[in-house]
Amino acid sequence: MRPDGRMRPDGFAARFGSPPDVRAEARGRVNLIGEHTDYSGGFVLPAAIPLRCRVSLARRPGKRVRLFSDDRETDGVLEYALGEETAGRGWIDHVQGITRVLAERGDALGGFDVSVASEVPLGSGLASSAALEVSVLRALRDAFRLPLDDVALAKTARRAENEFVGAPVGIMDPMAASLAPEGAALFLDTRSLAHETVPIPEGAEIGVIDSGLPHEHARGGYRTRRAEVEEATRRLGVRELRDLSGEDPEAVARRLPEPLSRRVRHVLTENRRVLEALAALRASDLVRMGTLVREAHRSLADDFEVSTPEVELLVSLADRRQGVYGARLTGGGFGGSVLLLAARGAARAAADAVARDYRALSGRVATVLLPMASE
Ligand code: GLA
Repeated sequence: MRPDGRMRPDGFAARFGSPPDVRAEARGRVNLIGEHTDYSGGFVLPAAIPLRCRVSLARRPGKRVRLFSDDRETDGVLEYALGEETAGRGWIDHVQGITRVLAERGDALGGFDVSVASEVPLGSGLASSAALEVSVLRALRDAFRLPLDDVALAKTARRAENEFVGAPVGIMDPMAASLAPEGAALFLDTRSLAHETVPIPEGAEIGVIDSGLPHEHARGGYRTRRAEVEEATRRLGVRELRDLSGEDPEAVARRLPEPLSRRVRHVLTENRRVLEALAALRASDLVRMGTLVREAHRSLADDFEVSTPEVELLVSLADRRQGVYGARLTGGGFGGSVLLLAARGAARAAADAVARDYRALSGRVATVLLPMASE
């Protein structure tokens, strides 16, 4: 835990009448490549972003949990009792899910007060939920001396999402929030959970533009895609699509009807692209990395069909900009954010120009989230 001078003062003492015992934080992530591969045992390559979720927490006697979010001040202080978690209460479901899963794991927890302040925008494809869950789990680990290593912590967050919040997401986001260091990417094998830090090459800079169209994981398209992947896996007679990594993606696709064939082709080719991207990053080959980013986007848009007309416009505008190696939809899709892999020093101007042209062409407002204006 870091009672860290850089953190802005939060509303904890004002809300709860005394200072917190612990503070913790976790970052959002941007996925460089490896999309919709983390629930079939595949590879991903997310990177931590400077936007963070911060929490302050204090133990309290009894079983009550009191929660306050700076971002939803009008909600005031919300409450529930440990052991009486009830889904359907908005953002506190992420915390209720955590305490439920910790209890199931046998971790001894008492009541607590917690306040949250997040810079990670909701619904932008930057893993705001994982940043919230991992920061709360870090604070709980510290406050109650829980025997959770960083991987167990990520698994707990994922279970809370899957089993309590009801979002059928994979392990990428909590692993990135728990393990990706600042300024580096995390290569992760989502089957074995083997992971490795990969520095972002000196000459590269990441830009992120939020399309302003929020996605929704708990229902809708993400759930449908996940069900399609499960159906294809069943028809192919394997445990996970990862089992087919040695095979020709086109040949595997031919064994399935539409649209399952294209869904599987995306996943199998995407896993290959992640491995190639890893090699390109290690070799600081940004031109190759940019090509892979563009190919990943086409596959995500055409085969996996998770893009939108607005995202297509942003990506095509970004691909044309000076200093941009490649651009693509990042995160689960159906809206969310676009990633720009740019030359160092070029990302902000490129992203600003894309947002300006996008507004002129579509009348919609896209927000440049990274690099931050002061970076
Ligand atoms: C969301 C999910 C992740 C992953 C991505 C798509 O971010 O939370 O588990 O499936 O979508 O790659």
